[in-house]
Amino acid sequence: MESRNSCWEMHDMEKHDVTGGHDVKTGLMVVLPDAEAIAQHMAKWLTEQALAKKGAPFVIALSGGSTPKRLYQILASAEYRDRFPWANTQFFFGDERFVPESDAASNYNMVETEMLAHVTVPPANVHPMPTSGDPAQAAARYQAELEAVYGGKTLEPGRPLFDVVMLGLGDNGHTASLFPRQPVLQEKKLWVSTCVPDDAPHTRLTLTYPAIHSSRHVVFMLAGTGKREAFAKVRAGDPAEPASHITTEGELIWLMDKAAAGQ
Ligand code: 6PG
Repeated sequence: MESRNSCWEMHDMEKHDVTGGHDVKTGLMVVLPDAEAIAQHMAKWLTEQALAKKGAPFVIALSGGSTPKRLYQILASAEYRDRFPWANTQFFFGDERFVPESDAASNYNMVETEMLAHVTVPPANVHPMPTSGDPAQAAARYQAELEAVYGGKTLEPGRPLFDVVMLGLGDNGHTASLFPRQPVLQEKKLWVSTCVPDDAPHTRLTLTYPAIHSSRHVVFMLAGTGKREAFAKVRAGDPAEPASHITTEGELIWLMDKAAAGQ
């Protein structure tokens, strides 16, 4: 099993651009000592990626959950807040619970509290998923927002929608809000859809597999022994795990700690 240890550096991910790895089985595993190291390396790598984007906005889909919280704090810290190209970045969300933005369960709320409230970012660059009215209509509105930034209504191979899609992994193999057994797993056309999990609270909006596929990088961030079992299943390609079906036309990277990797 390919892995990188604590001597991992930026260029390891770059090198991998040449060698491939577009799905969960072949994606590069970058294994670091602990959750703090993951957050620090992601902050550095993401900033380099964003700074390298010239002539077009850097487009990212942020993930929710608890794992990336520390990353958002680091990006808002003195070390990064004046270096990250906030004005040239379009911030989208990979998924959202259909709750008001003020709700503690809202991913937007978490990202706003931990990062956006502390940096200077043009409000037009931040795209929370709409969470009022009819969920399917809200999903369609979000897709229209993505289409406006993409400059088209059809995803073209070779012209990815996202520079980076950040993802996490749940115990039940879900990622974004692609939950087991739900119709959204069959979605081939829409970029954004609804999901009503049978094993977790809240109706959700989520990016679909085809939208996530249209990316330069997909980065899963995993920390802790609690992720070990789900990761092992997904890495082996167990079809029952929704995360097993994530692909990208770019590079897929597992950024994880030793505990999650079972090392
Ligand atoms: C969310 C995410 C979800 C998350 C995983 C892992 O909003 O909760 O969409 O897919 O990334 O459940 O969550 P943790 O990082 O909290 O383990």
